[in-house]
Amino acid sequence: MPHGPPAGGRRAAENGLRRRANLTTMFPLGDTNLDPAAALNQAHWDERVPLHLAGEFYDVAGFRRRPDVLRAFEVAEVGEVSGRRLVHLQCHLGLDSLSWATRGAAVVGLDFSAPAVEAARALAAELGVDARFVVADVYDAVEALGGETFDVVYTGIGALPWLADLHRWARVVERLLTPGGYLYLAESHPFAHTLDEATGTMVARDYFDEGPHVWTDTGSYADRLAVTAQNTTVQYDHRLGSVVSAIAAAGLRIEFLHEHDKALFAKFDTLVRGPDGFRPPEGRHRLPLMYSLRATKPGHPAA
Ligand SMILES: C[S@@+](CC[C@H](N)C(=O)[O-])C[C@H]1O[C@@H](n2cnc3c(N)ncnc32)[C@H](O)[C@@H]1O
Repeated sequence: MPHGPPAGGRRAAENGLRRRANLTTMFPLGDTNLDPAAALNQAHWDERVPLHLAGEFYDVAGFRRRPDVLRAFEVAEVGEVSGRRLVHLQCHLGLDSLSWATRGAAVVGLDFSAPAVEAARALAAELGVDARFVVADVYDAVEALGGETFDVVYTGIGALPWLADLHRWARVVERLLTPGGYLYLAESHPFAHTLDEATGTMVARDYFDEGPHVWTDTGSYADRLAVTAQNTTVQYDHRLGSVVSAIAAAGLRIEFLHEHDKALFAKFDTLVRGPDGFRPPEGRHRLPLMYSLRATKPGHPAA
């Protein structure tokens, strides 16, 4: 899988299952109301929700005891959220959303997977955390949220690879922001995705090939051996330049782009877990494994 955790138990690239998409050959139906890639991806995510609720990767039991999974760099870079309106795009199980809510933000989480949103709502109710969750495609977020605007648009690791059109996404983000509000984005670094998954030392993929890529992966990063049926996904390897350019073209002002030498999971088999993430072993060169970015909508909030 591109930037996020590997999508499944059998890594497509290692097993020769990865192939370049030819979506018109795969879906010759001509039904313009149905985005076949989105339908495949949604079915994939719907099926994985129960696995992720049960598995160790998301540690929902631990979250019930201590509902805060935010990484220290995100908390520092997003800044104070108490009393601020925050929308979390592609919120999945809502763990990050609820973590921002426990820090005092007025949170709305949005995801196109109904089972994911149901799980997030159930967890919020169980923990008594005040947060709203909405089922919608990210491209429809403005309409789904009734034109409501936010101080912070937050999006976390593994979100952008599912989106075909970064310019359309960035325009949605811009419309969701109140003047003076900002987008905060944390993602896996696209350079890391070019490296071989076993060692992370050899360039194995073309940095400039952004996709679409069709992947076939069984199981999930939360349960590699799980038996699953919805295994085909369509994903994108967006380059750093494409992401930054789309955000700038939407009219947001980039405040910073930080590159991090750690990952949140063992992207390569050789990475070593440390107190704040996974890095190459001692003596090996550092790699850009994640990046984070903040971009502000010009203007001042209405008084
Ligand atoms: C890797 S998960 C995000 C993980 C999140 N950062 C976390 O750790 O909880 C990707 C999420 O994006 C959602 N998603 C993918 N494409 C989407 C779209 N077009 N609109 C809304 N949600 C989408 C999926 O349902 C899934 O919950």
